[in-house]
Amino acid sequence: MATPISHEIEEPVEVTANAAIPFKGRHARLSSFARYREKRRFWSDPVGYMSQRYSNEGVLSAFGAQHPEYVFAFAPELNKQLNENAVLFHWSASRKWTRPSSSLNILRASIGNMDGQEYQIRKTLMRPAFHHDVIEGARDKMISRTDEMLSRWSDNGVRDVHLEIRKLVHAISMAAVLGVEEQSVVDSIYQLVDDIYTGSGRPLAMLLPFDLPLLPFRKVTRTADEMVELLRSIIQQKRRDGGVSCDMLSMMMHSKTEQGVSLSETELVSEIYNIMGHDTTISALIWMLILIAIHPKAQAKLVEELSGRLRGGAPTLEDLNQLPYLDAVIKEGVRLMPPQCFSRRLNVEPCWLGHYDLPARTTIFMSSYITHRLPDLYPQPLRFIPERWDMIKPGSYEYFPFGSGVHYCVGRAFALLEMKIVLAMTLQRYKLAFAPGQRIDRMPGARLLLSPKGAVAMKIEKHDGRFSSSRVRGDISQMIALS
Ligand code: HEM
Repeated sequence: MATPISHEIEEPVEVTANAAIPFKGRHARLSSFARYREKRRFWSDPVGYMSQRYSNEGVLSAFGAQHPEYVFAFAPELNKQLNENAVLFHWSASRKWTRPSSSLNILRASIGNMDGQEYQIRKTLMRPAFHHDVIEGARDKMISRTDEMLSRWSDNGVRDVHLEIRKLVHAISMAAVLGVEEQSVVDSIYQLVDDIYTGSGRPLAMLLPFDLPLLPFRKVTRTADEMVELLRSIIQQKRRDGGVSCDMLSMMMHSKTEQGVSLSETELVSEIYNIMGHDTTISALIWMLILIAIHPKAQAKLVEELSGRLRGGAPTLEDLNQLPYLDAVIKEGVRLMPPQCFSRRLNVEPCWLGHYDLPARTTIFMSSYITHRLPDLYPQPLRFIPERWDMIKPGSYEYFPFGSGVHYCVGRAFALLEMKIVLAMTLQRYKLAFAPGQRIDRMPGARLLLSPKGAVAMKIEKHDGRFSSSRVRGDISQMIALS
């Protein structure tokens, strides 16, 4: 495993939208070794690296400026260009180091790695899985699983809420995506997903993605074999059962284009693997609970709204439209801590981006984490202020926790429903505060996902109508204003 590189930012970085766009970056001429080192710094801590790059070099910068290799674009007008022109800026940036038929490639060959006509066909075939009837049909599963979790919490003790939320979201996802409720199957899928995710996020696995003895990447490929095998067996079992159930996999199995094209078994494996992880929802929910524990006034105001409308119960779909403060808390939470904190694009032809003349296949990064902190767009950007949403209505390239343009998140409605149900039920029943000495640091490593590292221990107490400030340490103080 590569040695994690320490974060170099001591103070919160307030990013400024109108900082000068530099042409002569300090990485204008870099040797191969220096470029490798720079990439390694980026992949070891993307959020720390991008924050520092922004504060030093502004909204557009690159390293290897003569022949830019990595370009960082944070301004809304650049996000617009990169997201709207899907013909020029492709998603499928990853080079294929493994055999096309390898399990890892099957798991990666989802809509998230496609462009052009292939992408359009795949999107058409996936659409029925995200129909609002399917999403609304998942509501009962969300409620019953959340209720089970909260009943286990009734001991007024200290719990690792990160683990609890991970298990909850995973169980909801298995039921809604695969129609699988049996705990042993849920647990084994959970373990495999976690092993692949953790293994492939290690910097050494990212930098040396070769299926060779002694390299950590080999273990990832073996786990991927097991995962593909397991998903194939679930699909085959569904085919044998014959009936149509209302889970997302069944919807995709029966989906056809007007020309009669449908998804093969291998394509189904790719797509369900892509949508069943739900790590983004886990991350959104855990940051939300952390933010609420840090901000007692927001917690009190939210509980008042929830109890006033729901009287302790689970929300109906109608209720969910009548909870404006819950809406604002979620919007503000994913502004400040967007689960997918950056995206990558690759230009298929040479092109200009700002003042950079880019050769074909340059890697370009956008970041909701940085754009959401531009003070011209969001005054006091590091502060958690749900009330700001009464006053602002940012455009889709200024605020894009769910992406924007062609690849906009198809799972947004599902994720929002789940987040609202879990938060509404949890906060009506319990008051949350950090356990003494709790640290919150971001997870290091090569991840698109912004997630806290390790356990988040919280005291779970019944409400007594009093909410006090709950202290926490760690590099969270670089990412949000704690007081
Ligand atoms: C809070 C939760 C979630 C967040 C923050 C989130 C965020 C995103 C973002 C930022 C993108 C665009 C990536 C890019 O442009 O590079 C995206 C795409 C996507 N998301 Fe989500 N997502 C969430 C939940 C979900 C869920 C629950 C599902 C499935 C059930 C899902 C399925 C997808 C798919 C399939 C795409 C690709 C869409 C396309 O290429 O057309 N997401 N998501």
